[in-house]
Amino acid sequence: MSKILIKNGHIWSACDDFVGDILVVDDKIAAIGKNLSENYSADEVIDADGLYVFPGGIDAHTHMELGFMGTQSADDFETGTLAGFHGGTTSIIDFAIQTQGDSLAACLNTWHEKAAKAVGDYAFHCAVTDYNEKTAKEIPELIKNGITSFKTFMAYKGALMIDDRMMMGLLKTVRQHGGLVSVHAENGDIVDAMVEEYKKAGTLSPKYHALAHPPEAEAEAAGRIMDLAHYNDAPIYLVHTSCKEALAKVQQNFLREQRILVETCSQYLLLDDSCYEEPDFQGAKYVMSPPIRKKKDQKALWHALQCGHIDTIATDHCPFNLCGQKDMGKDDFSRIPNGAAGVGHRLELIFSEGVKKERITMNRFVEVMSTNPANIFGMDKKGSLAIGKDADIVLLDPNEKHTISAKTHHHNVDSSIYEGWELTGRVKTVLSRGRVVVRDNKADQIKKGSGLFQKRKAFNFSY
Ligand code: URP
Ligand code: ZN
Ligand code: ZN
Repeated sequence: MSKILIKNGHIWSACDDFVGDILVVDDKIAAIGKNLSENYSADEVIDADGLYVFPGGIDAHTHMELGFMGTQSADDFETGTLAGFHGGTTSIIDFAIQTQGDSLAACLNTWHEKAAKAVGDYAFHCAVTDYNEKTAKEIPELIKNGITSFKTFMAYKGALMIDDRMMMGLLKTVRQHGGLVSVHAENGDIVDAMVEEYKKAGTLSPKYHALAHPPEAEAEAAGRIMDLAHYNDAPIYLVHTSCKEALAKVQQNFLREQRILVETCSQYLLLDDSCYEEPDFQGAKYVMSPPIRKKKDQKALWHALQCGHIDTIATDHCPFNLCGQKDMGKDDFSRIPNGAAGVGHRLELIFSEGVKKERITMNRFVEVMSTNPANIFGMDKKGSLAIGKDADIVLLDPNEKHTISAKTHHHNVDSSIYEGWELTGRVKTVLSRGRVVVRDNKADQIKKGSGLFQKRKAFNFSY
C-alpha cells in the first residue's frame, strides 16, 4: 500500500474551496480535511503550501494518431497523454473514427491498439461515418462496453460526413440505448462549394480556409442538428463551438427546453482571425475546422461561459507539423491538414486568461475543465476531489509566470499556435491515479502503457 499526503494546499472544487490536506492511498483519494497528519501516516508528504489543488483535467476532444487528410496527427497516445500530464490533463476522450464500410467493432479494435501505449487515462467517443442497419445493431454493445458517446460529422464531405437521414437514425438508436450524440456542426455542402469557388479564383493561401468556413455554415448545421435531436427527444453535445451565430441558435433552443450541451475549445476563446495574416505560410498553423473566428466571437464565447451556456472547454488536439505536413497545402489551402495542438496547454491557458483575468471564477474553471466532462461523459471515477475517486490531482502555482514555445512544449510537433504567449500560473506537480507523474515540472518515472481505458456510464438524462 502506498500513502501520499498532500499538505496545506488551497483545494478547489466546482463549488467551493478551502485550505487543507488530501490523503491518497494507492490510486484513490482516501481522506480530505485539515491537519490529516495528526491521524494518518504517509510514505511521502507533498507540501502544497501556496499552491492550488484541483482535480486532474479531462480533455473531452482529442485526436491522437489520427489518419486524416493524407497524413497522421503528430502526437500518438504516448506523447499526447504525456503532454497532457505536463499541463495537468490526466484523462482524454479521443475519437475512434469508423472507416466507411468497416464495422464499429473494427474501428474500436484499431483505437484500442493505438491507445495501448498511453501514459494517461483515456476513453473513446465512437465517430460513426457510415450509419446503416449493421452499425445500428452494434450500438447497444458499444454502450455496454463503456463507449457511450457517438460523434457525427456534418462536414468533411466525401470522407467523414453523414447525411441527415443517417443522422436521424443514429440519434434515435443512441437515444434508445442511453447514449449521447456529439456533432461537428458545419454545413459540408456550403464549405465544399466555397472551397471550390476560392480555388477557381486562384485564392489559395491559408486565410481562404477561414473564409470558406463561414459562421453561417456552422450556425446552420448547429440549428439543423438541434432540430433533428429535438424531434428524436435526444440530448445533443456540440463540439468545438466557435462563433456567436451558433451560440445564438443554442440560446434560442434552450427556450423549448431542449437538452443541449456545448463545448468550446481554448483556441476559439483566445485567438482571432488576424492569425491567418501571419507571413511565410505561418497562417497554416491555424488551419482547423471550424476556423479561428473574430474578436466578437471570442467575446460571445466568454460571455456564454460566464452564463453557464458553455459546459466544457476542450482542445480538439490534432497537431500537424508545419514542415512535412501542413506544407502539403503550400499552394492550396484545401490540402493543409486541419488541426492544431493544445492538450498540454489547456489548463494553464484558461487559468491565466480566464481565472487570472477575472473572466471566470476558479470554481467555474474546475467545472468546465474536469467536473462537467466527467459528468456529461459518465466518467464516474474522475472529475472531483472526493473520497473514493481516482487520485488525479493537479498542484498549480497561481503566480508563477512562463512562456509557451514550440522549443519547450511537450507536444510532438514543430510549431505552436500559442508561440510566445506569457502565462501566469503553472502546473507544478500532477498525480494520475495516485502516481506522481509530474514533479516540479518534470515527468517522473512514467511507464509506457500505464494509462487505463475508462469504461464510461450511459448518459445521465437527468444531468
Ligand atoms: O480541424 C480540426 N478540427 N481537425 C480535427 C478534426 C475535427 O474536425 O475535429
Ligand atoms: Zn470537428
Ligand atoms: Zn476534433
